[in-house]
Amino acid sequence: MHSFLWTVLVALLAGAVLLAEPQPDVDRRVEALLAQMNLEEKIGQMSQSTSMSTPISDRIKAEIRSGRWGSFLNAGSPADRAEAQRIAMKESRLGIPLLFGRDVIHGYKTIFPIPLGQAATWDPELVERAAREAAHEAATEGIRWTFAPMMDIARDPRWGRVAESLGEDPYLAGTLAAAMVRGYQGRSLADPMSIAACAKHFAAYGAAEAGRDYNSVWLPEILLREIYLEPFRAAREAGVATFMTSFNTLNGVPATANRFLLRDILRAEWKYDGMVVSDYESVTEMIRHGTARDARDAAREAVTAGVDMEMVSTSYFDHLKSLVETGQVKVADIDSAVRNILRLKFRLGLFDHPIPAPREVAATPGSLEAAERAATESAILLKNETGLLPLGDSVRTLAIVGPLADSRVDQMGTWSMDGRPEYVETPLAAFQKLLGNGRVLYAAGLKNSRDLGREGFPAAVDTARRADAVVLFLGEEQILSGEARSRAFLNLPGTQEALVDAVSATGKPVVVVIMAGRPLTFHDVAGKAGAVLYTWHPGTMGGPAIAKLLLGRAAPSGRLPITFPRTVGQVPIYYAHLNTGRPPSERELGIPAGNPVQPQGYTSKYIDVDFTPEYPFGFGLSYTTFEYSDLRISSPILQGTGSITVSASVTNSGSREAVETVQFYIRDLVASVAQPVRKLKGFERVLLKPGERRTVTFPLHPADLAFYNEQKRLVTEPGRFQVWIAPDAARGVSGEFELR
Ligand code: GLC
Repeated sequence: MHSFLWTVLVALLAGAVLLAEPQPDVDRRVEALLAQMNLEEKIGQMSQSTSMSTPISDRIKAEIRSGRWGSFLNAGSPADRAEAQRIAMKESRLGIPLLFGRDVIHGYKTIFPIPLGQAATWDPELVERAAREAAHEAATEGIRWTFAPMMDIARDPRWGRVAESLGEDPYLAGTLAAAMVRGYQGRSLADPMSIAACAKHFAAYGAAEAGRDYNSVWLPEILLREIYLEPFRAAREAGVATFMTSFNTLNGVPATANRFLLRDILRAEWKYDGMVVSDYESVTEMIRHGTARDARDAAREAVTAGVDMEMVSTSYFDHLKSLVETGQVKVADIDSAVRNILRLKFRLGLFDHPIPAPREVAATPGSLEAAERAATESAILLKNETGLLPLGDSVRTLAIVGPLADSRVDQMGTWSMDGRPEYVETPLAAFQKLLGNGRVLYAAGLKNSRDLGREGFPAAVDTARRADAVVLFLGEEQILSGEARSRAFLNLPGTQEALVDAVSATGKPVVVVIMAGRPLTFHDVAGKAGAVLYTWHPGTMGGPAIAKLLLGRAAPSGRLPITFPRTVGQVPIYYAHLNTGRPPSERELGIPAGNPVQPQGYTSKYIDVDFTPEYPFGFGLSYTTFEYSDLRISSPILQGTGSITVSASVTNSGSREAVETVQFYIRDLVASVAQPVRKLKGFERVLLKPGERRTVTFPLHPADLAFYNEQKRLVTEPGRFQVWIAPDAARGVSGEFELR
């Protein structure tokens, strides 16, 4: 065989061995390196800095040479990172490579829909693909660690970070978080195009009291385990390389020093050997929490609890040496942290790969195609009563109204600082491209989503009058969503509602498109629109996705990953609630309260708003209709060691091909601890042609019926269960079986 081919073959084999670096080798190499390190070098590895500016300062270069830092976040340019890595590996005593981290939350240069939008796709394969594209772009620029996926269960839309979450349900969030981990980490962490993922924020950050960011979290262990830890457990099962502690206290103890979370659950129960990083200065924030006297105390608490690396604050570097020397911190705890850090760096292949030549990465047709597909699948059709959508040829001239119709930065949403606005195609641009400029009129109507003015209304009304239909773009601009962006009200900001009134008064058919980072309340607005499409912040390719959906060149398939309240006063409102002893009934809708002589309605509801949500979890319309029928359970009895299947027929009873996300729910009718009225246990996206009928089947094992009992143990109890195969959490065909 030609020598060149031999060379290639040997290289491939070597590469294969390298990529599949077996664990024992890594551990052996970790121990060998650890044995050479002095205490300062160990503590250096445990320190992550955000202070590497462009160009790298001489101070930072000197610190890298001395082994002062193990990792940087938000650091410089690709060239800076390559230079810093060269200094670390060639000029420091032990040549330990640096790990560069970044918030690659929903894309890097190519921005995908915000995670809450990706959750609305209910499409794990697509979510994995999006993460893979992001990993490729970030890794090409020297970033090998992302602080994602965020998998905090969120049941409170007032909390700005619901935008980053995967919604309210542990099963859906866990399934999608695992898909993101697979996307980021690929088949092997050692693949230069893979990046370490990070399960955050551990834990229960999304249960912040009153939806106020960073606020206290009080949770009974049953709820913590049943709901908030479940996605983290799924991510751990998927092999997530790192965890990040959260800012909040959990039952009075900051997560960053919470031994129950970090030692008992993560290390002892889940046998986790990955690396734990604090959140941004969350170590020294424990002084403000009032659980640490000073930075020295905070450092001791965090490292003892099991935080391996301190993000940005410098209490580890400033105090751990003296804490060890005074016996307040065990060297064993230091060594354990450094092992976790070195193990990650070996697994990533950082010691073995040549320093990547710095490269600026650009979007590719593949990444943009994936971003458009994700934006298309994340959009949820909430209303289309008059069949206004898809817009037909009768709509010759289309008025596009609203500032969010043409705002490249806003449509990328929160955590999109590496997103390139020049790649973004806005809805306005997309409609102009698809229909021709002559058929598209535009009026912003408002300066931005917070604008309190009305001076733009006359032009907007006039534009609407000159068109055959209006697409009104409403919602939240980017800076109203994300970290530290909690809102006490959920209605449309500014004078957007007044703009809707003005435009709808023209009598023209109105399609409302809402771009937002959370569920909003817009009951009256929806009443004035013929159709409502919820697109979240759809990312770089949101424009073509939205335009094609409204023009019928694509069909909406998104389903709500979170319950939409009628009003903020209902929050928290979620589908997997307990029944209570006085559940309200459908006939109590319309808020009857009886009269003083015959008072009625002594049930768990409000007297000033219907107890039901505006739109339930799992809800979403299509351009066709689906019928559910013939629920079948393979056996009326499920034995402790067996399994049954639950199936139903789903028919496309409309005239257009479309995707339906068939959902599978269960209810434990009697248990030692009250169980939710429904729990999602499966889902399947099915593409059905008009008239096509498909049997969709879900397996059920006793383990799927387990819950945490009063003793906080995961148990299954015999008894009767109800099941649904459904289009959303409020409807479906149902049946019962018995677990023996
Ligand atoms: C932020 C966030 C965290 C992020 C980190 C680094 O405050 O809480 O999600 O990864 O700091 O930017």
